[in-house]
Amino acid sequence: MTALQYGGGQGTEELRTQICEVMAAEGILDAKPENVVITAGSQSAQDVATKVFCNPGDVVLVEDPTYVGALNTFEAYQVQVATVPMDGDGIVPDLLEAKIAALQTAGKNIKFLYTIPSFNNPSGVTLSAERRQQVVDICRNANILVLEDNPYGLLRFDGKPLTPLRAANPDDVIYMGSFSKIFAPGLRIGWALVPAHLQRRYYLASEAVTLCPPTLNQMLVSAYLRDYDWRGQIETYRGLYKERCDAMLAALGEYMPPGLSWTRPEGGFFVWVTLPDGVDTYPLLKKAIDAGVVFIPGAAFTHSDDPSNKIRLAFSAVPPETIREGVRRLAPVLREAIAAL
Ligand SMILES: Cc1ncc(COP(=O)(O)O)c(C=O)c1O
Repeated sequence: MTALQYGGGQGTEELRTQICEVMAAEGILDAKPENVVITAGSQSAQDVATKVFCNPGDVVLVEDPTYVGALNTFEAYQVQVATVPMDGDGIVPDLLEAKIAALQTAGKNIKFLYTIPSFNNPSGVTLSAERRQQVVDICRNANILVLEDNPYGLLRFDGKPLTPLRAANPDDVIYMGSFSKIFAPGLRIGWALVPAHLQRRYYLASEAVTLCPPTLNQMLVSAYLRDYDWRGQIETYRGLYKERCDAMLAALGEYMPPGLSWTRPEGGFFVWVTLPDGVDTYPLLKKAIDAGVVFIPGAAFTHSDDPSNKIRLAFSAVPPETIREGVRRLAPVLREAIAAL
């Protein structure tokens, strides 16, 4: 009966306690269940954070590129998005600092940095261990909160997750996690670990949206974490995704025409391919579908309306042989676009 009733607005205590164990597996060792708010996926945790902290016209800093779902949230709340460039090691600290200074000089009110430090969606790029504290320090000095979105963190191929930004910075970072990538996206269970001084505002806003997170689904996740070897299952996923990622990288090396480059992710789901300047990948989508393969054009992951010469390839959902075949079908579509330049 409990399963079909309203529950507490913050989520069940059992699951919040278990979530603290999941976060401990990544290196967040001081999380308390009272600071966890369970949400309808981490998508809704982002939405609540934006609703609580941002007014129309405020600025949110994001990586370039970044997750399309977050861009949609910021747009819905009429928040201005400002991009911070990344290199192969994630956000470039000097450029972050310069961006903040320029925006603040222009009188802008920057509310937070939204970042996906481990295996960014779409680029697969990871913020290096050396830069992590630097990024938080820069934001703290400028009085900017960090919104750390980390649904893929445990899926690092070598089995040693990088320590989240939240670990050493309990007052400066709102951490968002999810069961979507390590258990079941359809259950729509994610969470936010909120600094103690912001917890009440955050929780009340979340409760105002959903009353409570789905009780039956929370009980399902709790039973899974209690009765099954979830750590072993994550181990299995890591092996599976590494094999698929390796298959994609090998196929790209084999089939792609000269002039392209791509990222080599350490975990997560995605490879980000860069075509020569001047290629607009959006119109190529239809041609790719006609060839029997699908990708997401890079333009989806930036807030600018400019054409993009990037594409996101996902290796998560299909086995190595199918990945290889997909890349083989994509190659002539890209080759033709480059030849037409
Ligand atoms: C970076 C990132 N954040 C959030 C989400 C949404 O996750 P959830 O299913 O927990 O809402 C995704 C899903 O793809 C994602 O890639």
